[in-house]
Amino acid sequence: MKTIDELLAEPVAGRRVFVRADLNVPLDGTTITDDGRIRAVLPTVKALAEAGARVVVASHLGRPKGAPDPAFSLAPAAARLGELLGADVAFATDTVGESATATVAGLTDGQVAVVENLRFNAGETSKDDAERGAFADQLAALADVYVGDGFGAVHRRHASVFDLPARLPHYAGYLIATEVGVLRKLTDDVQRPYVVALGGAKVSDKLAVIDQLLGKADRILIGGGMAYTFLKAKGYEVGSSLLQEDQLDAVTEYLERAEKTGVELVLPVDAVVAPAFPDLKSKAPADATSVAADAMPTGQMGLDIGPESATLYASKIADAATVFWNGPMGVFEHPDFAEGTKAVAQALLDSDAFTVVGGGDSAAAVRILGFDENAFGHISTGGGASLEYLEGKTLPGLAALED
Ligand code: 3PG
Repeated sequence: MKTIDELLAEPVAGRRVFVRADLNVPLDGTTITDDGRIRAVLPTVKALAEAGARVVVASHLGRPKGAPDPAFSLAPAAARLGELLGADVAFATDTVGESATATVAGLTDGQVAVVENLRFNAGETSKDDAERGAFADQLAALADVYVGDGFGAVHRRHASVFDLPARLPHYAGYLIATEVGVLRKLTDDVQRPYVVALGGAKVSDKLAVIDQLLGKADRILIGGGMAYTFLKAKGYEVGSSLLQEDQLDAVTEYLERAEKTGVELVLPVDAVVAPAFPDLKSKAPADATSVAADAMPTGQMGLDIGPESATLYASKIADAATVFWNGPMGVFEHPDFAEGTKAVAQALLDSDAFTVVGGGDSAAAVRILGFDENAFGHISTGGGASLEYLEGKTLPGLAALED
């Protein structure tokens, strides 16, 4: 994979460089609630601008349905990018139309433009190769060179991620190079004990990664909504907790395989339960209590791992050499159910291990709960992408940068 350093070794002044970023930031109206992904692409954009390139930044935001939708405009992200760069960033109100063409033509050396949401165009996400290819041709007309730096989207076989690099000289940006370097440490040459903490709502999203990790990790700690499917598979009653009945067979097989192979698959020993899902806006007290995992009352739902589980998980992390954490342990957005997630984050900070926080919700949790993100070994910008990498899948956006 050629990296941006090789591109910067050539004269780039005056060349139009297309940067495929992942500016898919959470928004409350037009207010960005976590700008981590915009900050993550700054080194690449800055280096190109300083070298005099005409930088065209493109990204998706949310999941609009292939047509313009103001709720998913990249305008707030473009404005924030400008603030962080301390420079004017031009904004095109379409992706490959008149506005984009004129905006890119108007760029001077070292200037940055952002074009509107790639997913306002049906060709971006199309399953049809020809439709995606036609859109990639339009994108290619905007630039001379391609830099892939949207790590969070490399698992998507989309036009700007997969088809466009084939049409232009292509390089990996600093973010992708860093993310891949870190994930390689978890796959090729992992330091042991290797502990993985997995949370999140649905066990079905994590099946493939658990399957892989059963052959690689020394301990897997299970939390979040998916823990209740594991507890049910062990024969416990889980009240009104989230339960994926259709995954019980798969989960039972994992429990058996872990037993046989000597991987410690650790489940919560207690849970914080409440009669109903809490109100995340008002954060009103939720009538929460802690109960043993094998004594969850009917009509109560588990919304966090309990205090004994938090202590247990912290002790399982304490002597690790490598820790990968993906997915909150509970509904951390509500104070009554944040302690499990806080305990795991704190355990990562307290350990001497190389610690990786795998994107999405867990990265947001670290920032929202007020932890110092620089104190972790690495916080990935890609939740789905980092999981698929660990599953051993070929990621289209990385494969496209290889050749
Ligand atoms: C993400 O948020 O995980 C990435 O930006 C990819 O978004 P997507 O799941 O909508 O493709």
